[in-house]
Amino acid sequence: MRSAILTCALAALTAVNAIPTLSIKGSKFFTSDGDQFFLKGIAYQLVPDDPLIDNKQCELDAKLMQELGANSIRVYHVDPSADHKDCMKTFADAGIYLWVDLDTFDTQIEQTGPHWNQSQLEAFQAVMDEFQQFDNTAGFFVGNEVLTTGNGSVAAPYVKAAARDLKAYRNSKKYRDIPVGYSAADISTLRPMLQNYMACGSNASEALDFFSLNAYEWCGASSYAQSGYDQLTKNATDYNIPIFLSETGCIKPKPRSFDDQASILGKDMIGVWSGAIIYEWIMEANEYGLVSYGDKVEPGPDAPPDGFPRSGKPTPISPDFENLSKQWATLNPTGVKASAYNPSLTAPPCPEFTDETWEVQANQALPTLGQTFDAQATGSATGGGGGQQPTGSAGTPSPSPTKGAAPGTPLKEVQGMGLGLLGLFIGFFWWM
Ligand SMILES: *[C@@H]1O[C@H](CO)[C@@H](O)[C@H](O)[C@H]1NC(C)=O
Ligand SMILES: *[C@@H]1O[C@H](CO)[C@@H](O)[C@H](O)[C@H]1NC(C)=O
Ligand SMILES: *[C@@H]1O[C@H](CO)[C@@H](O)[C@H](O)[C@H]1NC(C)=O
Ligand SMILES: *[C@@H]1O[C@H](CO)[C@@H](O)[C@H](O)[C@H]1NC(C)=O
Ligand SMILES: *[C@@H]1O[C@H](CO)[C@@H](O)[C@H](O)[C@H]1NC(C)=O
Repeated sequence: MRSAILTCALAALTAVNAIPTLSIKGSKFFTSDGDQFFLKGIAYQLVPDDPLIDNKQCELDAKLMQELGANSIRVYHVDPSADHKDCMKTFADAGIYLWVDLDTFDTQIEQTGPHWNQSQLEAFQAVMDEFQQFDNTAGFFVGNEVLTTGNGSVAAPYVKAAARDLKAYRNSKKYRDIPVGYSAADISTLRPMLQNYMACGSNASEALDFFSLNAYEWCGASSYAQSGYDQLTKNATDYNIPIFLSETGCIKPKPRSFDDQASILGKDMIGVWSGAIIYEWIMEANEYGLVSYGDKVEPGPDAPPDGFPRSGKPTPISPDFENLSKQWATLNPTGVKASAYNPSLTAPPCPEFTDETWEVQANQALPTLGQTFDAQATGSATGGGGGQQPTGSAGTPSPSPTKGAAPGTPLKEVQGMGLGLLGLFIGFFWWM
């Protein structure tokens, strides 16, 4: 009798503590409780290799993220051989899900001479093996801003091949249906071909589970129409897989008001979009941070090599942090219940080949594992139409911290870049 009571009590405790898993139905995310899920996310990469190892740090950050109202983090790079149990539990206890990139600077798919091979597959699998065990793992990215130019579109089939192989691996290992998606640079000339391509085709095993966009179009006093978000929404309205903003949060002009959240998590967009991830948690050279770990110091052997402290007690950057927290506190979309949602969506057609704009044939088979792009074999790859600057859909240049910004730019002009572009400059930064 006593042991039965104990078992019941334990079961109740577990039920209270467990975080519901996320999965996809139609073009929306749902919790295992049947509620629609909208991301209120934060890009989180305190240290280059893996911010999910030091649990004391995770506890400090998770607590403040809870105050902020976040329910998700995005981590770009992890070390699959490390132990993540404590940090993942800390974030789960705070109601926070993880969206994790499977690649690293060494294994990512490149847009120039793209290939997808066994070493990359194994590296991606190792990250999936490690993180699939956690209930608060929400999704995997097979790439971040791989394509940024028209002729770079030849890399798109390699991204899809990676998704195909990781989904097949997930299923063969009988892992939970953790969604596999892609995080795109917001390049107006590549949209909407890229968006449609990632979802297109009659075989869902060869398409992404979700698509997401790193967009920095809504800056300062703007609006749903002025920012171009209305056009983004229009073009995603019949999309058959979930879509969200995997990086957002313009920093000019300051302070950041995060007014865009009211559209993203309000009636303008919740019918089509699943929320957003704000770039980023830590204040560093790019100035996108929401918290700081202390004043910048002289770089040196005993100090952080870039001078920005990367551990300890997080202090909110004012008023940006409060502004975001105020926005999020008023925005609690409920969407639809999974049980009331029975969509009949079809995949978009694969975009047609257009020289220098979209250089992938609509009926082109995906690359096989081990394949490398061969310009001769696939036809025109000679056009000079690349090098297009990323622009907002309203036609205004965006300070997008993406790989798409001109790589030759002097360092001082590159301060506003995100982790994607940072990869190109790795040699200049402290984690060499
Ligand atoms: C895959 O490509 C990388 C270069 O990106 C290379 O270092 C590695 O040896 C390749 N692996 C295989 C199995 O070909
Ligand atoms: C769908 O794609 C998967 C992965 O490439 C393949 O194994 C399967 O045979 C395809 N199914 C059909 C009906 O073509
Ligand atoms: C929406 O789609 C149309 C038609 O494909 C395209 O011309 C337009 O540029 C797209 N708008 C955005 C904001 O991507
Ligand atoms: C953001 O902070 C500034 C400065 O305190 C304030 O004027 C503004 O109203 C805030 N915006 C929001 C949306 O809270
Ligand atoms: C794309 O075009 C640019 C010039 O605009 C060129 O430098 C680059 O090598 C081309 N990329 C590919 C993959 O052909």
